[in-house]
Amino acid sequence: MTTPFFQMTDINKSYWMGDEWQQVLRNVSLTIEKGEFLSILGPSGSGKSTLMNIIGCLDTPTKGEYILDGRRVDDLDEDQLSAIRNKEIGFIFQSFQLLKRQNALSNVELPLIYAGMGQQQRRERAEEMLCRVGLSEKLYHMPNQLSGGQQQRVAIARALATNPAILLADEPTGALDQKTGKQVMELFHALNNEGHTIIMITHDVSIAAHASRIVRLLDGELSEGVKEDA
Ligand SMILES: Nc1ncnc2c1ncn2[C@@H]1O[C@H](COP(=O)(O)OP(=O)(O)OP(=O)(O)O)[C@@H](O)[C@H]1O
Ligand SMILES: [Mg+2]
Repeated sequence: MTTPFFQMTDINKSYWMGDEWQQVLRNVSLTIEKGEFLSILGPSGSGKSTLMNIIGCLDTPTKGEYILDGRRVDDLDEDQLSAIRNKEIGFIFQSFQLLKRQNALSNVELPLIYAGMGQQQRRERAEEMLCRVGLSEKLYHMPNQLSGGQQQRVAIARALATNPAILLADEPTGALDQKTGKQVMELFHALNNEGHTIIMITHDVSIAAHASRIVRLLDGELSEGVKEDA
């Protein structure tokens, strides 16, 4: 039997709120195979972004074991975690997190600079990714000159720029209308067919249904959901 790509066992996350602990994730166990398209579905406040941060090595659990690609990561330090992130994971954040003073192209180029790609090549790659999300005419727009949905698409292009094995997306269609949201889901399907592992977080059942597996998060507790096939 092969080891799963992601293996989380009894992950807990709590915050000390001055007078008591608030438990946000409760004994979350989750296994994800390479090449899966998984969706984590849950209402606002259920712990989705907290879980995404742990899955993506942006945060560590209070308790529990996390093995990523055969390597235990729940007790690594910040430098070790960031090395894994830069190499393996593309993030689409719920709040986009674009650099305000940089245009769309420069925002998408940023991870390519970290990856050490040359100027000409990274400009071409960034342009290609922005075209892929339908923003070929907005390359030189600043974030505040773009609509929320367009900013979200810049964030998607940035996440894909380094061709990461894993794509972690937190509400990737939250700021998009139905048509653009559908285009992004088509893009995710295409990426998944190319072999990318996709973990998509959403509160929207119809968006979650695009994934091949759905798990549900409720009050920090995870359960395997049955996918209602259309
Ligand atoms: N740094 C923190 N300190 C204290 N509590 C936190 C912290 N981060 C998150 N929480 C709490 O954890 C709970 C889950 O938050 P989280 O952001 O993971 O929810 P979510 O499912 O992503 O919600 P949404 O759909 O609204 O984005 C919330 O009750 C929140 O207040
Ligand atoms: Mg969230």
